[in-house]
Amino acid sequence: MLWTLTMHAHDAASERPILGDRYAADLLARVDDPPDLGLSLGGNTPLICARAKLIDDIARGWLARHDEAVVLHLGCGLDSRVLRLDPGPGVRWFDVDQEPVIELRRRLYDDSRTATVGDVTDPSSYRQFPADLPRLVIAEGLLMYLDPAGVRTVVDRALTPGSTLVADSVAPWVPWVAGLQPAMRAADTGFRSSTADLARVAPRLVDELSLVDATATRTDGLTSTFVRLFALVPPARNAMVLQTYERP
Ligand SMILES: C[S@@+](CC[C@H](N)C(=O)[O-])C[C@H]1O[C@@H](n2cnc3c(N)ncnc32)[C@H](O)[C@@H]1O
Repeated sequence: MLWTLTMHAHDAASERPILGDRYAADLLARVDDPPDLGLSLGGNTPLICARAKLIDDIARGWLARHDEAVVLHLGCGLDSRVLRLDPGPGVRWFDVDQEPVIELRRRLYDDSRTATVGDVTDPSSYRQFPADLPRLVIAEGLLMYLDPAGVRTVVDRALTPGSTLVADSVAPWVPWVAGLQPAMRAADTGFRSSTADLARVAPRLVDELSLVDATATRTDGLTSTFVRLFALVPPARNAMVLQTYERP
């Protein structure tokens, strides 16, 4: 979560921001020991910011159609989406994450009313959310860290009838490659599920976007050329996708 926050801050300070998260730098300045992304992780900044931008746009469109609603922002980390989207008074927004993350979020944010402790893989976590309103569930940079059973719990428990899920996931070959990345190893983390695990349990797929394509069209120069070439290989183009599912 500190990696993505740092990427948001770098993007916002760049000449041509993709996301333009105007809260990230202030939040990061309050972190005692902000991470140094280095070349390898820092190279993911356009991808991560394109992902956040697309999710912001989808969520903004959904909120425009739902005045009275619930938003579950699962695995929110330190992301400022609720400030960026500024939902109306009829929207109950829950920023959900594990206890240590929510404690940190409460220390860093001036207004932390949306901060909610919950293990998304624990079915009982979902009892705290109102079930009688239209619901948008956002899972950004989350599902790949869960095992397939955890992904199933999210789908089964977070999605009440009529709900929409917006989630990114990775191709089945990506967890293996990600496991080779020194930063992932040093952080003792890794990817444990893929798009195939989500597709197996998720309801109706209504939209799918390649985040590799989204990165290519939002960058320029060498980065864009490199990503465009990468996208020519079909398995690479779908390395990371953003999907929208609806539960009828
Ligand atoms: C890569 S970060 C993404 C954070 C944020 N969505 C963003 O894009 O900046 C993954 C987040 O998922 C959270 N997470 C992982 N497993 C979780 C679980 N079982 N329950 C709740 N949150 C979880 C982590 O604590 C972390 O904040």
